Amino acid sequence: MNGSKRRPNPQPLNLVLLGAPGAGKGTQGERLVRSHGLVRISTGDLLRDAVRRGTELGREAQGYMEGGELVPDSVILGLVRDLMRTGDAPGYVFDGFPRTIPQAQALEGLLEELGRSLDAVLLVEVPDDVLVKRLSGRRACAKCGAVHNVHFDPPSREGRCDACGGDLVERPDDDPETVRRRLEVYREQTRPLIEYYQDAGVPFHVVDGDRPVEQVHADLEKALAA
Ligand code: AP5
Repeated sequence: MNGSKRRPNPQPLNLVLLGAPGAGKGTQGERLVRSHGLVRISTGDLLRDAVRRGTELGREAQGYMEGGELVPDSVILGLVRDLMRTGDAPGYVFDGFPRTIPQAQALEGLLEELGRSLDAVLLVEVPDDVLVKRLSGRRACAKCGAVHNVHFDPPSREGRCDACGGDLVERPDDDPETVRRRLEVYREQTRPLIEYYQDAGVPFHVVDGDRPVEQVHADLEKALAA
């Protein structure tokens, strides 16, 4: 979901959640939305929605996504720019964006146009073997989008969503070969953002993501309060 469950936000925040595929960016992004009243911009969710609806954008993005490759920067930036156009959000949590240095530079410009800047970058670190296990066990509800995990958070009825009873399905890019490629692409194209943000002097926090979901959330909150 993008921008759901807003709450009044006494202290506007603009955050980037960085992490490998399966690190828990979506899981933690939803919690930050609830705790800080932010609007979540998940480029992965936006692209999957476009693919589901069969739009031109979806048709353009689908091949890249199924191959575990990044969708071209120009496509991603068009999407994000449209969402931020009104500038009326209390604050944003960017999940899965930026993923390249040109995307990070463009984000700076978009925030600047709104008179804002990034308050923090939160890097969620998880070992590769845990990432692979998480992605092989992820199941999303075809009806409401709730995310489960057959290894770490099994649904009470096999194949059924705990929230709405809908069918639980695997993501097409969670097959082992595509996961391997997604991890390579993360290392090659997204990890350089760590140095980029550290050099830029943006407050940068690293959190151990290989812990229970609520513990990771508590650690993120602690980092933000520091
Ligand atoms: P995207 O949807 O962003 O995928 P991703 O970055 O690969 O991340 P995931 O959604 O797989 O994982 P996550 O970190 O959100 O983890 P989650 O919370 O779901 O992008 C998909 C594709 O779109 C890309 O490959 C690319 O093609 C394209 N794309 C998107 N953005 C782009 C951009 N900016 N530029 C270019 N291309 C772009 O958790 C994973 C599983 O683990 C779940 O089952 C969850 O329940 C479980 N889990 C989470 N936390 C824990 C925990 N602490 N303990 C145990 N289990 C946990």
